[in-house]
Order: sequence, then C-alpha cells, then structure tokens
Amino acid sequence: MAMRSWAGRRRGVWVVVGVLAGVVLVFFAVRLVTDVPGVVTGVLPRADSFQYRYVAHPVPAYVHIVPGMVFLLGALFQLSGRFRSRHLVGHRRLGRVLVTAGLLSGVLAVVVGVWFPFGGPTETGAAAVFGVWFLITLVLGRRAVRRRDVLAHRRWMIRAFAVALGVGTIRVWVGVFQLVGVLAIQDGRGAPWFGVSFWLALVLHVALAEAYLRVGPRPGPVRRRVAVGPAV
Ligand code: HEM
Repeated sequence: MAMRSWAGRRRGVWVVVGVLAGVVLVFFAVRLVTDVPGVVTGVLPRADSFQYRYVAHPVPAYVHIVPGMVFLLGALFQLSGRFRSRHLVGHRRLGRVLVTAGLLSGVLAVVVGVWFPFGGPTETGAAAVFGVWFLITLVLGRRAVRRRDVLAHRRWMIRAFAVALGVGTIRVWVGVFQLVGVLAIQDGRGAPWFGVSFWLALVLHVALAEAYLRVGPRPGPVRRRVAVGPAV
C-alpha cells in the first residue's frame, strides 16, 4: 500500500524537480544572453543594473554558474534509479565529475555571495550558510561512497541536490517579491528582498530534503546491489 502510494508521489516529485531545474536553466540562458555581449565587448552595463556585477566579474560569476549547471543537470541522471541500475559505471564516472563541479561551484557561491551580492548582507549570510552546507554534503557524500556506505551516500547526495535545486525556488520567491512590488531587479531597488528569497528558498529545500529522507521511499534493491560493487 505504502509502496503503491509512493509510486504516484515519486512521479509528482520528479515533475516538481523538472520544473525547478527548468527555471534554473531559463535563468542561466538569460544570464548568457545579457552578460556575454558585455563581457566580449568590454562595455559595462549601468552600475545599478542586475547584470553589472556578472559583466564586471565574469570569472568568479561563471566559475560558479557553469559548474553549478553541470552539477544540477548531471544530478538528475545520478538520482534516477533507472540510470543507476543500467549504467553503474557511468554513475561512478559522472559522480566524480559532478562532485568536482559541485565543490567548485559551492566555493565560488560563497565567494560571489561575499564579494558582490545583489541582496547585500542578507544574501551574503545565506550564501555562506548554505554554500558551506552544500560543500559539506558533497564531501560527506563522497566519503560515504568511498567507505561503500551507499545508504549514507544516498542521503548526503539528496541533501546536496536539494540545495542546488533551491536555486530555482529562489527565483520563484524573487518573482513573488517583484509581483508584490517590494523588489525591483531592473533598477536595483529593494535588494534585501533578493537576500530574503535565498533564505526562504534554501531553508525550505533543506527542510524538504530532511522530510523526504524520513518519510520518503526506502532505498530499493538496486541501491543494495550498488553496495556490493567495487569502491569508487
Ligand atoms: C549547484 C547548483 C547551482 C546552480 C546551477 C546555480 C546557478 C546560479 C545562477 C544561474 C546564478 C545567476 C543568478 C541569476 O541570474 O538569476 C547564480 C548566482 C548566485 N548563486 Fe548559484 N547556483 C548553484 C548553487 C548555489 C549555491 C549552493 C549557493 C549558496 C547558497 C549559490 C549562491 C549564489 C549566489 C550568492 C549568487 C549571486 C546572486 C546575485 O547576487 O546576483 N548558488 N547561481
């Protein structure tokens, strides 16, 4: 009975995950379209515009964003039971790439959040707390699988993914605050609400990950089979 109800819910979880990953992908595309011309020509946008910081500091910004996108999109495959059961070697190889990408993106998330946060100290605080949490989850997830503790590996990687996916929910909150008129991205007004979006989204995602790990589906036989494979 519980098994059957989770089969339906699992589909719902994947739909939400897909929508949020889609939101991140759209904002990544928007970044490229708005930043690349300025980076290439060296013409800086207005200093109070949102994109100014991305054009003025493209290296830290894009060493955060591009590996972050690699992590987020690659993790969609890693978390799919079907992919793991059919491509275990691929899961291991991709996993090494994604952990490296995630660590790079996480370190630069903290750097960007401290160096040029649009949302001021509120955003800096969130970037430091959740950036460090993201790094911890990746390190512990990697360590667990090296010990062949697949259950702990699964838990830490779900936590890492939940934070990465939170980037989509941040944008949802930013949209809500723009709609109610307390935040204006275009002219840099009300920027603390940008930082508040970070806190609301990432606290929610960390909490949802914990709830999923407590009441979500139990790991199936595929994951146990991984446990007896060679260490990565
Ligand atoms: C791992 C997956 C991640 C992806 C794909 C990602 C993607 C992005 C993108 C696309 C932006 C540009 C913002 C925009 O144009 O809307 C951005 C900015 C930023 N991200 Fe991430 N990110 C990830 C993880 C994180 C984590 C874990 C943190 C830490 C909380 C973080 C902190 C930041 C900060 C502080 C900014 C600068 C926001 C600003 O002031 O403009 N990111 N990220």
